[in-house]
Amino acid sequence: MTDFSSHHPDWWRQAVVYQVYPRSFADADGDGLGDLRGVADRLPQLAGLGVDALWLSPFYPSELADGGYDVADYRDVDPRLGTLADFDALAAEAHRLGLKVIVDLVPNHTSHLHPWFQEALAAGPGSPARDRYVFREGRGPNGELPPTDWQSVFGGSAWQRISDGQWYLHLFTREQPDLDWSHEEVREDFRTTLRFWSDRGVDGFRIDVAHALAKDLTEPLRDLGGPESSGEDALSHLPPGTHPFYDRDEVHEIYRDWRTILDSYTPPRTAVAEAWVPGARRALYARPDELDQAFNFEYLQAGWDAKQLREVITDSLATARAVGASATWVLSNHDVVRHTSRLMLPPGTDRNAWLLSDGTAPRVDERAGLRRARAATLLMLALPGSSYVYQGEELGLPEVADLPVDALRDPVWEQTGHADKGRDGCRVPLPWTTTGPSYGFGAGGAWLPQPPYFARYAAEAQTGVEGSTLELYRTALRLRRKLLSGEELTWHGTTNTPGVLFFARSDGWRCMTNLSDAPVPLPPGEVLLTSMPLDDHGPGGGTLPPDTTVWLA
Ligand code: NOJ
Repeated sequence: MTDFSSHHPDWWRQAVVYQVYPRSFADADGDGLGDLRGVADRLPQLAGLGVDALWLSPFYPSELADGGYDVADYRDVDPRLGTLADFDALAAEAHRLGLKVIVDLVPNHTSHLHPWFQEALAAGPGSPARDRYVFREGRGPNGELPPTDWQSVFGGSAWQRISDGQWYLHLFTREQPDLDWSHEEVREDFRTTLRFWSDRGVDGFRIDVAHALAKDLTEPLRDLGGPESSGEDALSHLPPGTHPFYDRDEVHEIYRDWRTILDSYTPPRTAVAEAWVPGARRALYARPDELDQAFNFEYLQAGWDAKQLREVITDSLATARAVGASATWVLSNHDVVRHTSRLMLPPGTDRNAWLLSDGTAPRVDERAGLRRARAATLLMLALPGSSYVYQGEELGLPEVADLPVDALRDPVWEQTGHADKGRDGCRVPLPWTTTGPSYGFGAGGAWLPQPPYFARYAAEAQTGVEGSTLELYRTALRLRRKLLSGEELTWHGTTNTPGVLFFARSDGWRCMTNLSDAPVPLPPGEVLLTSMPLDDHGPGGGTLPPDTTVWLA
């Protein structure tokens, strides 16, 4: 049997990783922004929740042009969030409680405030300092047009012109200039960063935009022929490895190099790629001599549809297995609409339009959303592989879709010319208590307004309350640890009842989810856990209501 204890080098294969978005988790110093001491203070709660690891989204010095994914110094802590000593204390306490620590690495771009970029600006065109980034002359008679038609992920041209006339590449905001990964100094500096945090005892890394580092920058740079070709969606209809900046074959050399560093530690450090790349190509990032895992965005993007989910689960397991990796599952993170709300949106709903309507078109029934989210969570936690849980989902928080536009902080709002409300609705600071300033987030208020209904979802309102979402997560995580064995999944029956997902993990664990709108017969066996109470489950069997998951022995 596989050993999944936290001491085993493969602990990550079937871990539950809790994502902390530090600025919105807990604010110990009362400046309105969450901080590392806030996280450290709540570690006992996370250990009590039963997760195996925490992944900290960036806490590095940053002007927050993109919520911390604009890093000015990769080897320090933002003073507003604490100090390196605070980080060390947090990591030590996490380890004492049996929790692993994963930190976020952002190698595709720096902040424009990074000393390298400041040096590049000052040094002028043609200087070696500019070679660490992607500076080019513009097109048109006076260089007034961007060098190519490449588009930023957040909207508009991916090129920004500076006062001396040159342009630089930024696949995200203009405050996030892209690095040139063919430059040896860039490579060496990230090796140093990997060692810096590994030496401080971190157990792993989450690699931001892992699929964009290697770019085809041979002259002349080629146009993509339309805004739609700049996005990751283009990957599915281009021959593999031919996009100028996404998922190029050369990117894997970088991860092979990193693997030697990760493996030089005992136990080896783990890594998970954020790579928006379709299935089999994505799995390449998780080959044994590269990173260990890659996030599964097909699962995240699947609707509440049994057929679609079964296909995605089957494919995800097969593609991960083909490279010897374990699968990953994620329902919510800091970039997407929380799954309590998202899974209720009818297929084809335009997420931006829904957010722009303040969540009124269509309006999501909060109770029904929570019911469905709980069913989705128990389904996810029963799947073989690792689950990544986003802060607040254990409270059942809905998306705050009606944030007033003047409160928005996500650069997406401005960069899309107010066409996309962005990702703030899932980043609203967490409610810990039912009353008090910012519901226990911190004494200095919250940097995004919390709706009054957050009081009902507060950890305090749910702790020890039977049937609460928080207690459901705790029970599920405790039970999951006991039930875990190999990574096999066997679907029950060759053709499942439509609208139902039913599979076995091992002798002692079966999971059934009813995604249809009518009750279905409950199979015989001991009920271990249900996402909602079963009304009529007696010795003679019973039914599984819609939007409910059951774990059976
Ligand atoms: C992915 C991160 O999850 C997201 O929050 C960020 O905006 C982009 N990468 C750019 O770093």
